[in-house]
Amino acid sequence: MNFASDNWAGAHPKIAAALSDNAGGYASAYGTSELDRVIERTFSEIFERDVSVFFVGTGTAANALSMSWAGRPGGIAFCHSEAHAIADEGGAQEFFTRARLRGVDGRLGRIDPDALDTAIRQYPAGFVHGGQPTAVTITQATEIGTIYQLAQIDAVSQVCREHGLPLHLDGARFANALVALGTTPAEMTWKRGIDIVSFGGTKNGCWCAEAVVVLDPAKAGDLPSMRMRAGHLFSKSRFVATQFAAYFADGLWLETARHANAMATHLAKAIGNVGSVRLAWQPEANEVFAVMEARTAARLREAGASFHQWHTPAAFDGTLAPNEALYRFVTSFATEADDVAMLAQAIGTNR
Ligand SMILES: Cc1ncc(COP(=O)(O)O)c(C=O)c1O
Repeated sequence: MNFASDNWAGAHPKIAAALSDNAGGYASAYGTSELDRVIERTFSEIFERDVSVFFVGTGTAANALSMSWAGRPGGIAFCHSEAHAIADEGGAQEFFTRARLRGVDGRLGRIDPDALDTAIRQYPAGFVHGGQPTAVTITQATEIGTIYQLAQIDAVSQVCREHGLPLHLDGARFANALVALGTTPAEMTWKRGIDIVSFGGTKNGCWCAEAVVVLDPAKAGDLPSMRMRAGHLFSKSRFVATQFAAYFADGLWLETARHANAMATHLAKAIGNVGSVRLAWQPEANEVFAVMEARTAARLREAGASFHQWHTPAAFDGTLAPNEALYRFVTSFATEADDVAMLAQAIGTNR
């Protein structure tokens, strides 16, 4: 009953097997192998246009490199106030970009476009004291398991265009959002005005495979040397390529994401049916947030469940009694229906 994080799940057996099958032999290094090239082309097929792809090792590196590309030192980049980039990357953004992050509020993990517009206007052109806006980033699926509908991406993108700012998408859970929306990578990104994507594979079944995807290769600019300088050009890059090869083969990445989301839906239904635990909001991808008393959480842990207590978002619509807190349950490709059933039973018996 492990619902701690999709980072706690191991590698999908097909990805582990691909790594093992390709472990021997020689291939040219630093992203120049034939397989690296093949997978770069696969990304272009998936996004239905030529894209530039830069494999990196972590989602944090993908975000920080993307934002270094999108912004510039001394600039101000806008993200949701509770985005991973500002709250959970230990200052990696500032370390890489030498720019500042400015949080923008919005309900349920999504930037409010009006609030974004207002925030950007607080830094008028030429006002050196405040600094200059340089980029915007949104997270899809969001950090709290919600999804930007395509029209909501359009609305943020529109503000970016009005201010001439590039738009980055943190896709650590790209596949979960994609299948939840039932859309295509093209529709969810460049057709909405997204310029650059952190494309995550790790949480959805890879061992360690993330990529920065520049959606117009003509604009990739200095990213090849930026990645090198950031220490993320892997010498044995073919192993990242190998993981992506297995990830994309026969739509495995969509299958694992659908499974993770379905498990979250089952869990949400189970939680929705009992009195001692209640859903904090409706999950839309693979993360379920629930409100319960600490003693209920303790009982679930005693029953063998792993999950984390979570901070309450600023824009939380519900109410928490003094002895209640918010808890996060994350599902993944590795979650089994039995895990959900056992947790549901444990929740049910705690009424
Ligand atoms: C939304 C989001 N973005 C980025 C990351 C960063 O990924 P990593 O832990 O691989 O640096 C995470 C990881 O939890 C995440 O949840």
